[in-house]
Amino acid sequence: MTIKEKEPEIDLARRCFLRRATSAVGGIGLAATAVPFVEYWLPSIDTEAKAAPVTVDMSALQPKQQLTVAWRGQPVWIIRRTQEMIDDLPKLNGELRDPDSLEDQQPDYAKNIYRSIKPDYFIAIGVCTHLGCIPTYRPDVGSISPDWLGGFYCPCHGSRYDLAGRVYKGVPAPLNLKIPRYSYLSDHEIMIGKDQSGAEDG
Ligand code: FES
Repeated sequence: MTIKEKEPEIDLARRCFLRRATSAVGGIGLAATAVPFVEYWLPSIDTEAKAAPVTVDMSALQPKQQLTVAWRGQPVWIIRRTQEMIDDLPKLNGELRDPDSLEDQQPDYAKNIYRSIKPDYFIAIGVCTHLGCIPTYRPDVGSISPDWLGGFYCPCHGSRYDLAGRVYKGVPAPLNLKIPRYSYLSDHEIMIGKDQSGAEDG
């Protein structure tokens, strides 16, 4: 099958993202998250506004829950990992293509086994590094295969990532999920797109 024939699948995945983003924003009721979603839908907004960092209040997010916000036309996931999820991360290193995040897919402060600033909050761009589909969040142990410890599964061509967005060996995706620049404004509030030093994603 050629890449061109696969495009409808990718379009379908992007439409699914829009539905899931609507549902996540509505379900958690975070007013701040409505702003990036509106930005995604309004092509008349100028480039500067679309590229601006966004602030997200995560205080309502419960352990194991996922929140999706749109930033620069892409889904950004926020996962609140449980202690069990955090403890399982080192067990997978032998099965992963880039367990130590040597590829340039994250800022330096996310170049650790959690791929995040704080172990319990994982922030990543939810776009598969193969051909750009939106992977699904599959946190339950055994839900993809008997030895599955939770992670992300791409429905387009079967790529798998762990709960730090690290890609498994032997799947089409070549790289770990991308981590955007971000910073904490308070214990439960982050700014996506700008880090503590003031640097913004290019
Ligand atoms: S787009 Fe091909 S596996 Fe995700």
